[in-house]
Amino acid sequence: MTDATDQVTLSHDGQSYELPVIVGSQDERAVDIRKLRSASGLITLDDGYGNTGSCTSAVTYVDGEKGVLKYRGYTIEVLATKSSFVETAYLLIFGELPTSSQLNEFRGLLTQHEFIHEDMRHHFDGFPPNSPPMAILSAMINAVGCFQPDFMQPEDDEHFMEPAARLMSKIRTIAAASYRKSIGKPMIYPRSKLRYTENFLHMMFSKPYEPYEADETVVAALDRLLILHADHEQNCSTSTVRMVASSRANLYASVAAGVCALWGPLHGGANVAVIEMLSELQQSGEPLERFIARVKKKGSSTRLMGFGHRVYKNFDPRARILKNACHRMLDKLGVHDPLLELALRLEEVALSDSYFVERHLYPNVDYYSGIIMRAIGIPTNMFTVLFAIGRLPGWIAHWREVHTNENARIDRPRQIYVGPNVREYVPIDERG
Ligand code: SDX
Repeated sequence: MTDATDQVTLSHDGQSYELPVIVGSQDERAVDIRKLRSASGLITLDDGYGNTGSCTSAVTYVDGEKGVLKYRGYTIEVLATKSSFVETAYLLIFGELPTSSQLNEFRGLLTQHEFIHEDMRHHFDGFPPNSPPMAILSAMINAVGCFQPDFMQPEDDEHFMEPAARLMSKIRTIAAASYRKSIGKPMIYPRSKLRYTENFLHMMFSKPYEPYEADETVVAALDRLLILHADHEQNCSTSTVRMVASSRANLYASVAAGVCALWGPLHGGANVAVIEMLSELQQSGEPLERFIARVKKKGSSTRLMGFGHRVYKNFDPRARILKNACHRMLDKLGVHDPLLELALRLEEVALSDSYFVERHLYPNVDYYSGIIMRAIGIPTNMFTVLFAIGRLPGWIAHWREVHTNENARIDRPRQIYVGPNVREYVPIDERG
């Protein structure tokens, strides 16, 4: 961020206020309103924060108009083809691509921390069989913290690789265990000779007497999916992690809060909603044009799930990568999924309709991700959990960015009150 180069003038009630304009490294500009209230008594109001920058950050850059996404300066296209999820996680958290010795150290810590404490197995027994895996994930992330005697101590940033690897490794074990619980099957222990993504598939699908042999195409597809989900600047769940971190809460509490924010169908839950939408269309046989007409109807509660984005007013680059990967991956796996053809046709109908074009509504990361997860064999109720596993490095990177910023303040937005004026208390026997 360069110092203010110019300023804006705000005039109100016969007074003028000069507000500095700050410029980011990609030439984004913001009016710095940190002194607005003390100078003018005014605050700003921006429901949904569509026009409000909550912080400066060096982790990820998104250009919504151009459809650009960069993690620490590396484009998503390059990382999705050349990197691995573990290497990308290291890049996001520590800001640089690792040397081979750093990557080996990080991998070693991921292996070292792949087990969860045996006593945590009893926590799983406490959940009803059909418990939503996202509820289990959020609860168990805080539970994992309780088994770390020092987890309440402020993190020593000089030795942050271990806590970061510990949480990244254990979220995978917890996620697989929550799936096994939901289908009434025994938990599968990790195998230390397997790498990150393959070990997750092993814990998801192996039998106690017969290990799951992951097809390398499946491992590569899932690894790429995790890279594509690894961070996305100030999205709802990452902003939640940062807000909780701003109170100096520990890493586990902050991430558990992020899991809850991600769960919503407008955010990380959209990948489930897309498959449900496509499945309903396939079963009902409703003509796509009629469905689109329902979506467009004024006041309609029906949305084209997997379409639209607060920031992207162009194709989400992740959706473009996934769409291209879909065919290739399904062909390699010999999987024919009628929902893919349906998704492609529905996209075509939508993008030829002025309603979507005028509102800049394009497929987002969730539109095709479910198709790939289905082809891998991931059950629908685990889609958002996979999103959380992918997004965890981004959450950890943003948590670290807050905790290492000596100027960081607790997030405490203002509001405009619109409730009743002062009222007299009426004893209950005199109320109507
Ligand atoms: C993710 O922020 C991130 O970076 C998120 C994410 C990440 O990596 O973390 O990218 C992941 O969450 C992707 C988004 C997944 N959600 C969905 O696919 C759900 C469907 N999409 C929408 O609900 C919506 O597009 C949002 C929530 C994604 C964005 O909502 P906004 O920016 O608040 O837009 P809006 O609701 O104000 O809509 C603007 C207009 C409205 O029409 P008008 O009132 O102008 O007539 O566009 C319409 C909306 O009705 N609209 C849609 C639509 N999305 C917006 N109409 C039909 N279908 C849709 N999907």
